[in-house]
Amino acid sequence: MRQGLTASPKVLHPKYFYDERGSTLFDQICDTPEYYPTRVESELLSAHAAEILALASPDNILELGSGASRKSRLLLDRWQPSGDATYLPFDVSEEMLGSVAADLEKEYPHLAIHGLAGDYTAGLDHVPDPLGRTLWMFIGSTLGNFEPAEASAFVSEIAGRMDRGDSFLLGTDLHKDEAVLERAYNDAQGLTADFNLNVLAVINRELQANFQLDRFSHLAYYCEGRRRIEMHLVSEADQQVYLEALDLTVAFSAGERIRTEISRKFLTGEIREMLEDAGLTVTRSLVHESFPFALTLATKT
Ligand code: SAH
Ligand code: TRP
Repeated sequence: MRQGLTASPKVLHPKYFYDERGSTLFDQICDTPEYYPTRVESELLSAHAAEILALASPDNILELGSGASRKSRLLLDRWQPSGDATYLPFDVSEEMLGSVAADLEKEYPHLAIHGLAGDYTAGLDHVPDPLGRTLWMFIGSTLGNFEPAEASAFVSEIAGRMDRGDSFLLGTDLHKDEAVLERAYNDAQGLTADFNLNVLAVINRELQANFQLDRFSHLAYYCEGRRRIEMHLVSEADQQVYLEALDLTVAFSAGERIRTEISRKFLTGEIREMLEDAGLTVTRSLVHESFPFALTLATKT
């Protein structure tokens, strides 16, 4: 937080969005008519679940950034493992993870549910070892929230942790019409704005700060040159904020921004290249026709 708020321009890491309220707001964003990625990725998963499961033939499914595990259920519903099988949702939002894991245990009594609470950017060390044949999942275009170099490094880290015969299912949003993209991050109900502003409430609580949420506003737009949505909080006035836990005063001028999120919109070639550079072999690439979005399956041979 100190690093980001004293940098120029100011920036925050997106993992801080997801306290209990942030996770609930994100789940609500997924139901808005504007936020197409969830609908479109669900359609791809429903249509191709059997094929994905047949190709991966997993004993375990490990999901990074599982959130509410809503789309994951589309796979879990059709999964008929031959022996003992475990679903491992891995998420930084402990509140969400706890309640989701409890629900899943009831819904899928034949599966072992093994929640992993933590920050996956801090390493994958607490992933149990050895696992059986595993389908690793990273969907929801969460990889798009990483800077390019970080994204490649993270995919390589996952590939390094995979065993031979494991598969990796990656869900990534693709470049498309700017108006469609911008609507998805500016829903009419204002849920995305509330979600964005919630990060200030997280800082207020966790670091005893005094951000006034009504003195910042939500800004999201498509940056065509970098093929990414950028999300910012804009200071509406000259103001100072004090973070007691850091003994840090941060000054904002009117109009100054904090960048809170990037969401990259990929080209299919970039995705293939990233997976292959990490030493994986792409076995299936599924692209939605009306709203370009890719589900890519790769394996470690
Ligand atoms: N996969 C779900 C949720 C996507 S939102 C979907 O597709 O709808 C991103 C999810 O990743 C959130 O649940 C958030 O809590 C989690 N997350 C974000 N940063 C994380 C990190 N550094 N480590 C672990 N989980 C993280
Ligand atoms: N992975 C999601 C995406 O890039 C995260 C997301 C969706 C998001 N809507 C958001 C993050 C709004 C912050 C604000 O699409």
